[in-house]
Amino acid sequence: MKIPIRPRRNRKSAGIRAMIRETSLSAADFVQPLFLQDGEENTPIASMPGITRWSEKDIVNEAIEIEKLGIPAIVLFPKIPDHLKTADAAECFNPNGLIPRVVAAIKHACPHLIVITDVALDPYNSDGHDGLVKKHPNGNLEILNDETVHVLCQQALCHAAAGADIVSPSDMMDGRIAAIRHALDDAGYTHVSILSYSAKYASAYYGPFRGALDSAPKEGDKKTYQMDPANAREALRELTLDESEGADMLMIKPAGPYLDIIALARQNTSLPIAAYQVSGEYLMIQSACAAGWLDLRATVMESLIGIKRAGADIILTYFAKQAAEWLQQQPGK
Ligand code: PBG
Repeated sequence: MKIPIRPRRNRKSAGIRAMIRETSLSAADFVQPLFLQDGEENTPIASMPGITRWSEKDIVNEAIEIEKLGIPAIVLFPKIPDHLKTADAAECFNPNGLIPRVVAAIKHACPHLIVITDVALDPYNSDGHDGLVKKHPNGNLEILNDETVHVLCQQALCHAAAGADIVSPSDMMDGRIAAIRHALDDAGYTHVSILSYSAKYASAYYGPFRGALDSAPKEGDKKTYQMDPANAREALRELTLDESEGADMLMIKPAGPYLDIIALARQNTSLPIAAYQVSGEYLMIQSACAAGWLDLRATVMESLIGIKRAGADIILTYFAKQAAEWLQQQPGK
């Protein structure tokens, strides 16, 4: 048959496929999220098989291992004991709290590993919301914006003082990027970066994470601050706003179901784009593979290459360590 143009010629061998491959993954793309808790114990997380909540001591060893694999950054999520959770979330800026202690310990042990901290109130708040909650007489919950931003600034300052390289507001309050930037600059932390969760959707895929930290909202949902999954133009508005307020990097979250938003962001900003493959995405892959229905390595790598191809420069993923190990065994596969 005369078919002059045969795209299959460019797929005919592993060598040619490697030569023309458009997207590649490397450990340098990843950020490893790490859970931590008070005390000596390491606790396997029931809602996220294969993931551990680390003790203050052992998380340092884990950070060292992560750095050895060539992963440049970690992001920390604390489980706060119930007796420290209050309506004003004041534990979030306690200079002797779990996060500042652990940030300092990790920066001491691995000064070159980038430590990112999560700025939001939900682990500290007795209401389980990312912001301060006001309950109206009619029973309606209001998540207070400006009052929350004030507390987020104190939290960011506390993390910066402990040595965090990047603070990462995941709360979706209005105006928090500008406010945090000003607070950091006024206190002399001009070198501390802001990675903004700009387009963070009100997603069912966060379920296992809330189980890991016991941080689910006690009442109501997060739809008055996190975005409606149906909206794309609104994401562009949030991304543009955060860039103009001084964010250094922008994040889309979740990743897999929102690849169009990652691509939209890539076309509309020159800032680095991060994408968060969240706990539910992790759990779906893990559980399908545990049942023998999907191949773990192939599925994980395909999910990550899809996120990179869509336009993400940085991928936050619970598979970071595992994927970095696979890449070391067979780079480029
Ligand atoms: C809370 C926060 C959440 C995640 C990261 N920071 C949960 C939420 O917004 O309810 C989710 C991460 C994941 O599911 O892996 N500020």
